Amino acid sequence: MATGIQRNVTTRPGPETPGQSPTHPAVDRPAVDRPAVDTAGGQPERADPPTAPEADQAPAHPPAAGPLPTPDSAPLAATVRGLRRAFGSNVVIDDLDLDVPAGQFVALLGASGCGKSTLLRILADLDTEISGQVRVASRRAVAFQTPRLLPWKRVWRNVVLGLPGRPDRARAIAALTEVGLAHRADAWPKTLSGGEAQRASLARALVRDPDLVLLDEPFGALDALTRIRVQGLVEQLWQRHSPAILLVTHDVEEALLLADRVLVMKDGVIAHSATIALARPRDVGDPRFVALRAELLGWLGVGHARSEAANGRPARDGEPDPAVDVREPPPRQKILS
Ligand SMILES: Nc1ncnc2c1ncn2[C@@H]1O[C@H](COP(=O)(O)OP(=O)(O)O)[C@@H](O)[C@H]1O
Ligand SMILES: [Mg+2]
Repeated sequence: MATGIQRNVTTRPGPETPGQSPTHPAVDRPAVDRPAVDTAGGQPERADPPTAPEADQAPAHPPAAGPLPTPDSAPLAATVRGLRRAFGSNVVIDDLDLDVPAGQFVALLGASGCGKSTLLRILADLDTEISGQVRVASRRAVAFQTPRLLPWKRVWRNVVLGLPGRPDRARAIAALTEVGLAHRADAWPKTLSGGEAQRASLARALVRDPDLVLLDEPFGALDALTRIRVQGLVEQLWQRHSPAILLVTHDVEEALLLADRVLVMKDGVIAHSATIALARPRDVGDPRFVALRAELLGWLGVGHARSEAANGRPARDGEPDPAVDVREPPPRQKILS
């Protein structure tokens, strides 16, 4: 049973604010219980933490936890209603709704500074200075652009850092094996290449057996070739373990190669959602891929086309595009438990 975090900060209550699901109780905790890690710094990106990686700052969760159940639809790994986050007078997220179905690979695009990392940090429970409703599967893991390994702990110890009980080397090795890094288990983090460090970071996420993996531009610091390899690894891990993934990226092509659904964040909300109904592995030369790229670039304010059909001409009003499903958020009563 899920015991996902639920935060109801009732400046703008959603339809189910007063009650938690009687069958699926969630931890109900005011946001102020756990202040954001970096509220004092004023910086959206932070230096490596002095203590533990953020992946390990999330509270421990019972191993039996699973995706958030819903009464009449597929279970959700995360659901957000009416979310608002402001830094002083800077309202970054304003009345945002989002659902991440269990097992879905979702990519989140948006202009720099639009609030992608802020949203991710809220979902990771690293920022609780919010109003609105946030429910997230209990077992979740986070990986950032910088792997954030503790330099004074060997790789395997970094992988299991923060897990309850004694450090379990076998468990660490199993996760490192999955990312092709078992041979570096006893290495010091500073001896790893960028790609290896990022793989160690993925092993650290994997070892938590998460229902939701939150990735904030995890390939951003990698060279082109390593980036392609690590992207492929993430796709493999996703196919093997089926967690939901929310991947923040600024790379439209990466989003289209990897995701089931691509979201565009703009003006504090999810402004656009496109379901990517293309078989994997995807071909960047496929006309439908090209059309989707043009559409997403349009939503990002780059290029002209907001929607082009597969043959390259602009879609006519109301004309369905077989590879694109532009949807409004589903009705609330169908989503929330
Ligand atoms: N801790 C913070 N204190 C003050 N402002 C912040 C903080 N974190 C983020 N911001 C501001 O919120 C906005 C969104 O930041 P961020 O979520 O990092 O954007 P993105 O990840 O989309 O590039 C930016 O204007 C940024 O300056
Ligand atoms: Mg960011």
